[in-house]
Amino acid sequence: MSILNILKEPNKLLRQKSAEIHVIDEEIKNLAKDMLETMYNAPGIGLAAVQVGVLKRLIVVDISKEGEKKNPIFLINPKIVWKSDILVNNEEGCLSIPGYYGNVDRYESCKVEYLDIEGKLNNINVSGLLSRCIQHEVDHCNGVLFIDHLSQLKREIIQKKIQKNNL
Ligand code: NI
Repeated sequence: MSILNILKEPNKLLRQKSAEIHVIDEEIKNLAKDMLETMYNAPGIGLAAVQVGVLKRLIVVDISKEGEKKNPIFLINPKIVWKSDILVNNEEGCLSIPGYYGNVDRYESCKVEYLDIEGKLNNINVSGLLSRCIQHEVDHCNGVLFIDHLSQLKREIIQKKIQKNNL
């Protein structure tokens, strides 16, 4: 296993749509393991393959707290098939935009259909932080970042600060 480099905004790859995975081979399984290690190392609670430069619809999430038993979930081709009417506004960050946070509306609960790492079609009902986290990661698969959900003004302030720090 190895720790991968996490792409940072404004890397253009982060704006591309990831492709569906049709074959879950050793390469995908190894990528999943490396993504998990990379996420734990960061540390973060979610990571999409595009964030390590692979444009494939694979995400990993684990919202277990420090000291708790780890509970990683790999989701291949995740699809939100149901969402609650209730939206919750809460603070979010992203490993690709380190040091910046913003309040984003997310569905309080949702149902996600996905293939597990063995290729079995599965679904889960999630709520709260896990629901937020999965919606954030599915966004990544579509080239969307959390700052895209902020007001134009807030987004531009963050992007200008990033630009300035990169000079
Ligand atoms: Ni993110």
